[in-house]
Amino acid sequence: MVLLNPITRGPEVKSRVAVVGVGQTKFGVHKGQALSELAAEASFSAMADARVDHSDIGFVSVGVASGSLSGQLSPAASILDAIGLVGVPCQRSEAACATGSAAIYAAYSHISSGLADTAIVIGAEIMTQVGTSSATDYLAQMTDSRWEYSLGITFPGMFALMASAHMKEFGTTEEDLALVSCKNHRNALKNEDAQFHKTVSVEDVLGSPPVAPPLKLLDCSPLSDGAAAVILASEEKARTYTDTPVWVRAIGAASSGNLLSERKHLSSIPSIRLAAMRAFQQSGLSSRDMDFAEVHDCFTIAEIIAYEELGFAERGKGAKLLRDGATEIGGDIPVNASGGLKAKGHPLGATGVGMVVELTRQLRSEVEKSRQIKDAKVGLAQNMGLTGQYSYVSIYSR
Ligand code: COA
Repeated sequence: MVLLNPITRGPEVKSRVAVVGVGQTKFGVHKGQALSELAAEASFSAMADARVDHSDIGFVSVGVASGSLSGQLSPAASILDAIGLVGVPCQRSEAACATGSAAIYAAYSHISSGLADTAIVIGAEIMTQVGTSSATDYLAQMTDSRWEYSLGITFPGMFALMASAHMKEFGTTEEDLALVSCKNHRNALKNEDAQFHKTVSVEDVLGSPPVAPPLKLLDCSPLSDGAAAVILASEEKARTYTDTPVWVRAIGAASSGNLLSERKHLSSIPSIRLAAMRAFQQSGLSSRDMDFAEVHDCFTIAEIIAYEELGFAERGKGAKLLRDGATEIGGDIPVNASGGLKAKGHPLGATGVGMVVELTRQLRSEVEKSRQIKDAKVGLAQNMGLTGQYSYVSIYSR
């Protein structure tokens, strides 16, 4: 990876940006529902939460990762129709599994630069209606068509290579990976929007069917349908909607080269570290200032690598942080109190937006008591696309 300028300036900020409303559908299997219906459900819930009028919204930012999965190749227009915002400027973003964050970044840039006062961000995906083998194929088509997809690699396969490298270099074990799954399934139990409400033990994970060794069924995030929406507003506007705005303190974005085979190490994801450095630099905060985090655990190994790239643990020590219980609710840095991608679910376009829904509800002390982070003032969201080709790290505070 070429790092000509490791720190880029944040966007030219004319106004601070706040989250003033959030909404989300349940993540899981939504048989027979159209993408636009799910998107509308989340959008109306976010608009009601913010008490914004349709006429207030100056920009619509849509995040849908794959048209093939839902059979709706240009989804933004059907979503605009469904939410009754025809006529408003609208843009769709795509960044694979980080699509939701890319859509938030587009709306944030509009507001912070003064192009709009109020925007809605809608992330949505339908993944379960085509069957697992077609879904796996459509997802794999997001990898490099010439040197990866055509040779048969899939996402579980790529993250399995990363897990094997981490295990070889640092002694991380299959039991360590299983602990991520156990923690996140436990957290999802009390999240009514989560796909799974079932605890799993280390033995359950180790005994689940192999998907791409060393990863097993219970190391993988599921195929999910779902939508999430947030309303962003300029500081001046935000004060007219709510007394409890949640501030976007920073959005650090970064990218990396496309081919996994050209990475120096398979056990790290440098674009996460770069995005985090940018977010910390923009906000003047550090990893030690974070009260909690939602991270991108598309496969269990990804959560362990995220701890290391975000500075919660030294490189190679991510599994120890987990074993020590530091990332449990009530630990030093609770991670994925929502259940994460693993157990809350991973409808690609909705995932990054759903992280902000969770951060906002935590910062407003609105989540179920047993998974509420005590005194939460600052939270971090880490969302990546592919194996880190697109990375976003964002920081939100009360
Ligand atoms: N975690 C936990 N349980 C899961 C699961 C998962 N990831 N995936 C499926 N299940 C459960 C189902 O709910 C179902 O339970 P039930 O029998 O009690 O109803 C059972 O396992 C079988 O489900 P099924 O849909 O037949 O599983 P599958 O074998 O077709 O798919 C995976 C399993 C792991 C292949 C699929 O979830 C997958 O592809 N995940 C990765 C998605 C991905 O790559 N996302 C992008 C990340 S970069």
